[in-house]
Amino acid sequence: MKLITTGNNLCRIMVSDEYTELAKILYELVERDEKYDKVVIVTDENVEVNLYDDFVKSIFAITNSKYFSKICIKPGEESKCLDTFNEIISKFIDIGMSRKSLVIAFGGGVVGDLAGFAAATYMRGIDYIQVPTTILSQVDSAIGGKTGIDVGVYKNMIGAFKQPLFTYINTETLKTLPSDELKSGFGEVIKYAAIMDDNGEFEKFLNDNAVEVKYLDNEKIIKAIMKCAEFKARIVKADERETGLRKILNFGHTFGHAIEMEYGLKHGEAVAVGMKIAFKVALAKGYIKKDYYDNFVELIDKYDFEFDFSKINIEKLVENIKKDKKNSFGDISVILPDASSCVGIFKMSSDDIEELLKKEFNFM
Ligand SMILES: NC(=O)c1ccc[n+]([C@@H]2O[C@H](COP(=O)([O-])OP(=O)(O)OC[C@H]3O[C@@H](n4cnc5c(N)ncnc54)[C@H](O)[C@@H]3O)[C@@H](O)[C@H]2O)c1
Repeated sequence: MKLITTGNNLCRIMVSDEYTELAKILYELVERDEKYDKVVIVTDENVEVNLYDDFVKSIFAITNSKYFSKICIKPGEESKCLDTFNEIISKFIDIGMSRKSLVIAFGGGVVGDLAGFAAATYMRGIDYIQVPTTILSQVDSAIGGKTGIDVGVYKNMIGAFKQPLFTYINTETLKTLPSDELKSGFGEVIKYAAIMDDNGEFEKFLNDNAVEVKYLDNEKIIKAIMKCAEFKARIVKADERETGLRKILNFGHTFGHAIEMEYGLKHGEAVAVGMKIAFKVALAKGYIKKDYYDNFVELIDKYDFEFDFSKINIEKLVENIKKDKKNSFGDISVILPDASSCVGIFKMSSDDIEELLKKEFNFM
């Protein structure tokens, strides 16, 4: 499989099923052009066990290993914190990184957000490359330059916008992902079908090729990831700082976040369920037709996101939505489908949401 380049001048993205081209680029940047003096690969323990050796083997086949160091963190959201950030910055200093050094974030969204934030702040900012290894990071977090860490239970409270030099996606890495992570990632992929304003083309692709995509058929998974990455790059270019349009990437998240913790769901799974609720609200409001609703919910289920809605406590759900920091000024902003493959941002009061969900839930 050769390298596919996509994205735009703000978000440069390369997609492949190997690392040869990345190795060549690193050789050029570090040895041929001497643009960087040192390269630090930040990764986590799971990625280290599953992928690191093959990754560096590809890189060192072309570039001298003497330029490279590794920092390995503990996996999981708990690592996206000030302590690990401090640990990484201290290691940057020990390694002797300068303003001419380069960071590679090799892992999922946690590694990407954390290493990206370390790069954004070390010596007032050095360059970094995103090499994402989960579906979520390949279609979302490694593109667009949002970096950051959590503070206690508060997500992404400290952060910076810093675009990576480029994002290099190798879809082969998905083969070692645990099945629950894989499934969760597909929640985010399906989200793109709802927001992509492409006359339903991506929805049809995901529908027609559900088995191949789920089982990571090479050609189909590359196409799926590329479509999402391309679209994310387009959105980011139009609204880099999330003042408007970029918010549509949060489709499914308002309702999703409100049930994620409550029912112990993985993030992408909660997004899938959140999308179903958003579709339900849009149908009740008359924004979409019943056949679009039926087809989309069927697509979500094809990726194994059936959910027993009878166990949802609607009052609690609305309570959780109200607590969301994005909704602290009265009305709640909800992203809803308002036509086929299209979403809009709507204001609703919490009472409206509660009343509507209570009325509609019985036929979900
Ligand atoms: N910056 C953004 O724009 C943005 C957007 C969305 C989400 N995020 C952030 O992304 C994070 C979630 O990212 P995630 O879902 O990738 O989670 P993650 O980074 O925690 O990865 C999930 C798990 O999979 C493991 N893993 C990663 N790649 C693997 C592989 N190829 N094989 C085997 N195991 C592997 C990890 O060690 C981890 O245990 C959250 O912190 C979220 O806030 C950021």
